[in-house]
Amino acid sequence: MPVSDTSTTAVKVATVPHRGDIQGAITVYSATGELQGILNAAEITAFRTALATMTLLTRWKVPKAPEMVVFGAGKQAEWHVRLALLLVPGIKKVTVINRSSARLEKFQNDVLSSLESTHGKVSFQTLATESDDKKSRLGGALATADIICCCTPSTLPLFDSTQLRREDHQQRFMSLIGSYKPEMQEVDTATIRLAGKNLYVDSKTACLEEAGELIKAGLGVNDVIEAGEVFLNPPKAQLDPEAGFTIFKCVGFALMDLSISQALLKMAEEKGIGMVVDSF
Ligand SMILES: NC(=O)c1ccc[n+]([C@@H]2O[C@H](COP(=O)([O-])OP(=O)(O)OC[C@H]3O[C@@H](n4cnc5c(N)ncnc54)[C@H](OP(=O)(O)O)[C@@H]3O)[C@@H](O)[C@H]2O)c1
Repeated sequence: MPVSDTSTTAVKVATVPHRGDIQGAITVYSATGELQGILNAAEITAFRTALATMTLLTRWKVPKAPEMVVFGAGKQAEWHVRLALLLVPGIKKVTVINRSSARLEKFQNDVLSSLESTHGKVSFQTLATESDDKKSRLGGALATADIICCCTPSTLPLFDSTQLRREDHQQRFMSLIGSYKPEMQEVDTATIRLAGKNLYVDSKTACLEEAGELIKAGLGVNDVIEAGEVFLNPPKAQLDPEAGFTIFKCVGFALMDLSISQALLKMAEEKGIGMVVDSF
């Protein structure tokens, strides 16, 4: 995936093996063609997508001691958990829900164990939906969740909209970053409709063409707000405080890879981290 902001150019190469994780690299070039850096594509892609979620979540009126539910146990889920714990104050509980228990166990060992030791006040829970006895716990986790991040390539809704209704209030922030084809969907049409006018997308054109949830809901350009608008004329420090149920749908675009790579390379240079290859 090549991309240019007219001065800097980046090329992301991602390999998708039959087994195992996506791997690849992002190479960044200056306006005069010098290679400025090589970054890990899998890590940066997950980081920048979670960061896109956070740009809106941190401007949403987060309730006190919020609870977070994350669907998926891959890199995207990992970075959504990591950044939310860093950027959203006072998170009380994080529940990671995944289809397979094997992947969830790996996530517990690779990610949650260390977060448990650095975030002693946060309660971490896991839930594998392939196991029937745990399926009923799904409703419980969703009923109290304030923040829900869906990070899977599911083609069927991960839950039913009725599981989201609760008596106290309807305030919720939901990020849907997994689907990128018309046949994919992480939530049902009724859930999409709960957001009303508070439905944000990273790109109107891309999301309305690619995101199964929005296509199935029959939405058009006037039904969604491009997230970039929040940062224009003048930038909004907060989303509408009355915006109760808010959804962000993101399919991702290459300029995100370029801008985050540039920022990370600059930071690495300033902090003297990373590896410098002389006379490359
Ligand atoms: N919006 C963006 O810019 C952007 C960028 C990159 C990636 N993505 C998308 O984000 C999603 C997650 O990426 P990732 O890198 O974290 O992927 P990943 O490492 O492959 O993890 C995917 C997770 O989803 C679960 N899963 C797979 N198929 C499922 C299904 N049909 N129903 C329910 N759960 C399922 C897997 O669990 P099991 O153990 O049960 O298989 C796994 O935990 C993918 O759909 C990816 O294409 C979006």
